[in-house]
Amino acid sequence: MDAKIVLLPGDGIGPEIIKQAERVLAAVAKRFNHRFAFESHLIGGTAIDQTGDPLPAATVEACRAAGAVLLGAVGGPKWDDPSAAVRPEQGLLRIRKELQLFANLRPIQTFAELVDASPLKREIVEGTDILFFRELTGGVYFGDSGRTTVDGVESAHQSMVYSVPEVERIVRMAAQAARSRSNRLTSVDKANVLEPSRLWRQVAQRVMSEEFPDVQYDVVLVDAMAMHLISRPRDFDVVVTGNLFGDILTDEASMLPGSLGMLPSASMGSDGPGLFEPIHGSAPDIAGRGIANPLATILAAAMMLRHSLGLEDEAGKIEAAVRKVLADGLRTADIAGGQDSIGTEAMGNAVVAAL
Ligand code: IPM
Ligand code: MG
Repeated sequence: MDAKIVLLPGDGIGPEIIKQAERVLAAVAKRFNHRFAFESHLIGGTAIDQTGDPLPAATVEACRAAGAVLLGAVGGPKWDDPSAAVRPEQGLLRIRKELQLFANLRPIQTFAELVDASPLKREIVEGTDILFFRELTGGVYFGDSGRTTVDGVESAHQSMVYSVPEVERIVRMAAQAARSRSNRLTSVDKANVLEPSRLWRQVAQRVMSEEFPDVQYDVVLVDAMAMHLISRPRDFDVVVTGNLFGDILTDEASMLPGSLGMLPSASMGSDGPGLFEPIHGSAPDIAGRGIANPLATILAAAMMLRHSLGLEDEAGKIEAAVRKVLADGLRTADIAGGQDSIGTEAMGNAVVAAL
């Protein structure tokens, strides 16, 4: 296979972890006789510094022409002022919209070797395996916003809007994924209060009964879901929800396996390239020190091979290599629990060797 892969290293530890993922992909290409052409482009704070724009036009063009996109992380203290007109996060929100990546897949899996790193008890988290589908290009994130001042009192608003087709397509994608897992889907909303949630629930229920009668389906309110996730996470398989609820719940769920440093995510549309990235941020406090955990990005590269390039065997080999290095006792500092640890590059070497 010939594939063009666009790398968006971004800010903070982004460049360090992307470098290791690129090495792993190059090793896969060599072993399986593929040709991957890598091309790096700017996004986030680095892009603001160099071009004034967190998502330069050249980056969008390159992503559109790519087979898949692998992103590091964006943001950092240098660009942290939330009231600044230009912010790194805008680059991320715009690339999602430009590539119409309406589905954000966030798998939350526990690694047996790391369960004790979880802030929750082993008997609660062990065996947790949830796949979140977070809607990514709609909802309150992209609703009409603004400020008004009436009689000297300033107020701000931002609308939450969901259309029927927006709900249909994400529910369908999640239900299809449920069929290939344990055939259970949970939809999360706030239909007791919010009108867009009432529409969401209505549409989800119709899609499920008309098109997926074989999939076991239930509905949970978002506040209750926040509780269930830490009291009985094993009861959930595939979970589908809107943009804002998905943002919050997946951060909560990311604590179940014990380290953010292990979790990949995929953003997909109905066609065109997907975008793959670690769930964690740019970790500016440890940037440039060579100690960041590259495994989430390496696992994101595996998701990329599976979901965008159709290379299931190769994806499985990367995941097996990651399990092997963990089983061999190799740990970066974030998952070492104070024991001996190795650096970013040594971890990349170990995965390449395990391949
Ligand atoms: C995420 C992040 C982003 C979001 C931010 C950085 C804009 O928190 O990918 O979950 O809110 O979607
Ligand atoms: Mg988030």
